[in-house]
Amino acid sequence: MIYARIAGTGSFLPGEPVTNDDLVARGIDTSDQWIIERTGIRSRHLAAAEMSSSDLAKTASERALEAAGVRPDDIDLIIVATSTPDCIFPSTAALLQSKLGIRNGAAAFDVQAVCSGFVYGLTIAEKFIRSGSHQRALVVGAEVFSRILDWSDRGTCVLFGDGAGAVVLEAAGAPGILASALHADGSHHPILCVPGGVAAGQVVGDPFLRMDGQAVFKFAVRVLGDVALEVLDQAGVTVDSVDWLIPHQANIRILQATARRLGVSMDKVITTVDRHGNTSAASIPLALDLAVRDGRIRPGHRFIIEGVGGGFTWGAALLQF
Ligand code: ACO
Repeated sequence: MIYARIAGTGSFLPGEPVTNDDLVARGIDTSDQWIIERTGIRSRHLAAAEMSSSDLAKTASERALEAAGVRPDDIDLIIVATSTPDCIFPSTAALLQSKLGIRNGAAAFDVQAVCSGFVYGLTIAEKFIRSGSHQRALVVGAEVFSRILDWSDRGTCVLFGDGAGAVVLEAAGAPGILASALHADGSHHPILCVPGGVAAGQVVGDPFLRMDGQAVFKFAVRVLGDVALEVLDQAGVTVDSVDWLIPHQANIRILQATARRLGVSMDKVITTVDRHGNTSAASIPLALDLAVRDGRIRPGHRFIIEGVGGGFTWGAALLQF
């Protein structure tokens, strides 16, 4: 039987942290206290104008490849989860492939599931590897969300940031992914979307992120609880056998409510939202990489990753490191 396991992780945050007070200094009508109380966010990183998602993805990927001890040409599948691709086409994954100098014909494509994108990408890669068609995948979440924010809308612009996280997932003799579940319900698209598009050579409609914050909050807490229970049930284990919970880093209050619902202490929840805000598809691999590198997640540990995002999409995976 072929299984898939994580062989290495990496991440990248561009530039210096931009604090809540920095936003106030830039003229946004908000306060450090409001942002911290409502979201737990203290700072975020904003990519320089010339940096794209594939640039952030490149550095995160190089770090993951190094951690896995593999060369770029050892990768035969590249999946990038992003809602802020470099361009309409080619895919950010193909551009990443070029920037990493991978010339072996590895398959490369993007996944668009907004903040659940990394869970979607990892689950897809696992299925490729378990089928025997591919041996080693690079799965990346990379975003420059600052590009799709309306900086005059204080209800959304303070919440998001830019960044990238990556993992190398490779074939193994023992399971590294014990269970996974992916879901979507497109009828909820109006509560979180970037409604505009491109036609006839110009942007048609609104190119900025729009959100009904309270509706998103309620939806996120419900499905993050449900989908974590679903993967535990699928694997036939209880939450007590899980060492860490890594939810999508949207808002500390969503993380706390999810942990309460699952009966998990906040000590077991990897939390990075304070330092980079909501980086959409990048947030889970950013948190995972931090916890691997600081020694919290160790070989043999079990953890759940789970995401929820525009679409609406949601999903989770139970992993053994
Ligand atoms: N600074 C100061 N005041 C603000 C700000 C701000 N940045 N933004 C809004 N306000 C004001 C509003 O104008 C309003 O003022 P009023 O009472 O005078 O009208 C007041 O704060 C309350 O506004 P609400 O929108 O009701 O605030 P709420 O308590 O719902 O918090 C928040 C807003 C933080 C967005 C919350 O709804 C939330 O966390 N929702 C989840 C959204 C989320 O995490 N989205 C991420 C994307 S989705 C995903 O990743 C799953």
